[in-house]
Amino acid sequence: MEKKYLIGNWKMYKTTKEAIAFMQQLLPTLEAIDTGSLGVFLAPSFVHLSDMAKLIDRKGPIQLVAQNCHHEAEGAFTGEVSAAMLSTIKVSGVLIGHSERRMYQKEDNSLLAKKVKRVLKTGMQPFLCCGESLEDRKNGKHKTIVKQQLQESLCGMTPDEVAKLAVAYEPVWAIGTGEVASLDIITEMHYFIRQTLLEAYGGSIKVPILYGGSCNPQNAAAIFSAPNVAGGLIGGASLQVDSFIQLVKILLEKANDKAH
Ligand code: 13P
Repeated sequence: MEKKYLIGNWKMYKTTKEAIAFMQQLLPTLEAIDTGSLGVFLAPSFVHLSDMAKLIDRKGPIQLVAQNCHHEAEGAFTGEVSAAMLSTIKVSGVLIGHSERRMYQKEDNSLLAKKVKRVLKTGMQPFLCCGESLEDRKNGKHKTIVKQQLQESLCGMTPDEVAKLAVAYEPVWAIGTGEVASLDIITEMHYFIRQTLLEAYGGSIKVPILYGGSCNPQNAAAIFSAPNVAGGLIGGASLQVDSFIQLVKILLEKANDKAH
């Protein structure tokens, strides 16, 4: 059965005190739910990772993801964080190429390819984000852009390497806007991403594809039921313990439905 993922991307929200309080409230609830094979992750700011890592167990119900890392192993890069620094404090994955980093930090696909390789080399899971802008969609270029993002960000990678990552489809126009993509769009784009990866890397590759963009407890059941949707990358709705837990429960129910 395909593994399902729920990742809370906290972006630049929460103080350390709030982050720790969240984790302390979340942990007992998750332990009581029995999340089974679900991959439940939080991606807080770098600043909170080490404190939050002290509260978790590598085999426990929740793991940590970083929101970014540098592509070089180490060096004179003031203000940057290396993949090795993250993996040694129990971080198990890294978001790569979130649209906010593409937009504000001008990260391009060739840089992202280096980051994906670095994260893999360090033994963590890359969560590669892709998705078109509103302008791309209005111009009918959504598929071309997403294909280009995937091809260039995975340039030079082997099928074995690609099999270790997960992709998140996050249409830029749906992020933080309350305007979730329609089920038709999600189904079409996830199928398209699946086909693009199959054509490039062969039939045995089953990369999980998560959806992100205004996903919340009200719309998640329908989204998580759509074909080729292996879970969600959640922004706003991951900031409150209650809505995050509701999302975990919804995904778990869908995972159990599909297993029967
Ligand atoms: P929202 O869920 O707030 O739309 O954010 C999605 C996102 O960017 C997750 O990475």
